[in-house]
Amino acid sequence: MKIFDLVLKNAQILTKSDQGFVRGVFQIGISQGKIQEISNSMLSGAEILDLTGLQVIPGVIDSQVHLREPGMTHKEDLESGTRAAALGGVTSVFEMPNTVPSTTTREAFEDKLSRAESRAWVNYGFFVGGSPENIDSLSELEILPGCPGIKVFMGSSTGSLLVEDDPTLEKIFRSGRRRVVLHSEDEFRLRERKHIAIDSADVRNHPIWRDEETAISSTRRLLALAEKCNRPVHVLHITTAQEMELLAKHKQIASVEVLPQHLTLAAPECYERLGTLAQQNPPIRDQKHQAALWKAVQTGIVDILGSDHAPHTLEEKHKAYPTSPSGVPGVQTLVPLMLHHISKSRLSLEKFVELVCDNPRWVFGCKNKGRIAVGYDADFTILDLKKQFTITNSWMASKSAWTPFDGMKMEGGMPVTSIVGGKVILRDQELLGTPQGKAVEFFS
Ligand code: DOR
Repeated sequence: MKIFDLVLKNAQILTKSDQGFVRGVFQIGISQGKIQEISNSMLSGAEILDLTGLQVIPGVIDSQVHLREPGMTHKEDLESGTRAAALGGVTSVFEMPNTVPSTTTREAFEDKLSRAESRAWVNYGFFVGGSPENIDSLSELEILPGCPGIKVFMGSSTGSLLVEDDPTLEKIFRSGRRRVVLHSEDEFRLRERKHIAIDSADVRNHPIWRDEETAISSTRRLLALAEKCNRPVHVLHITTAQEMELLAKHKQIASVEVLPQHLTLAAPECYERLGTLAQQNPPIRDQKHQAALWKAVQTGIVDILGSDHAPHTLEEKHKAYPTSPSGVPGVQTLVPLMLHHISKSRLSLEKFVELVCDNPRWVFGCKNKGRIAVGYDADFTILDLKKQFTITNSWMASKSAWTPFDGMKMEGGMPVTSIVGGKVILRDQELLGTPQGKAVEFFS
């Protein structure tokens, strides 16, 4: 009789397949880090994990995190950031290039890969930053093993990466084939209006300085260029109703991300309660925009939910606005927050699985991830949908050690157990063993 390395017993699964969603209770046999068998009959394994009563989904992919290594490791590093991911039920992260140095060369990219080896608790990919200096090498860089693609900052945020003008962006769009990922804010308008932030020194003006038009004009420009160059794009952290209307007309060329922060917090309340802890780019806006983001999730304009995990220390965040840095940590709270929204009927578990498992699979061309199917990698996020708990700063594994959701009661359950490459790395919210993450493979 065949003995698997690990058998998941009585696994109530939810996954997407080419034919639609698959649900049911199955026995899953895992060997060599891959799903070998999904069966209605009992299977034998060297290790058996009984998952009766729990909900099993494909390992969650967070496709936008900032892990700060190298260069800003007082905020986070690859070990602490991926530990936070593991505790939050995330099994793969794609990391952004605005580190020090920026990830704009093969050397910087390979340095990140070697730093991650045996220190990453979850699987990883590293974006390469597009800049005016590296356009000629982008076609080679974007296909390096472990790279989900090229990331471009059209507006400046943390770090020095910036491509503000259309001619340079057009060159980047013409430089290769894979989907380009963009932070869309218009740098020209940001510069023109920076006095609003400086003169007022009040974080409540953050969404006024970085206003709707700042986001819309940049998204309009990038969509026109993407169409012109026939280059697929993925537009990150969309915050306005008007951009959603625009993006709805460009689904052929543009995939869309929203963040849990923008779906959960709203101005002016968040700035009054949290001050600069709520400061991020693009900013958290008012409820009218939040409602439009939810509608876009429900109507299929949004493809992906990412956390934009952007850790800064509390000391840095408490500097006077606007010298306070933008960004909030989120990789550990993404899954529980969205389960909470599911419990309030704002989205379904099926939609959630699309947004964090199946859609990242096709948007970034991940090999063997995002589904529970024979031959796929054995990455699983396992949820206890009945567990109630409160998010606290003390639960945070990030070096930044805080969350804007401190004190928020989660009523939709919690990620309790995670499997990465066939190894149980989290069991009942306890980390086990040693880091097991591997570089994600992509079709390029
Ligand atoms: O608020 C933000 N912080 N937005 C970004 O796009 C970057 C991030 C960071 O790296 O701190």
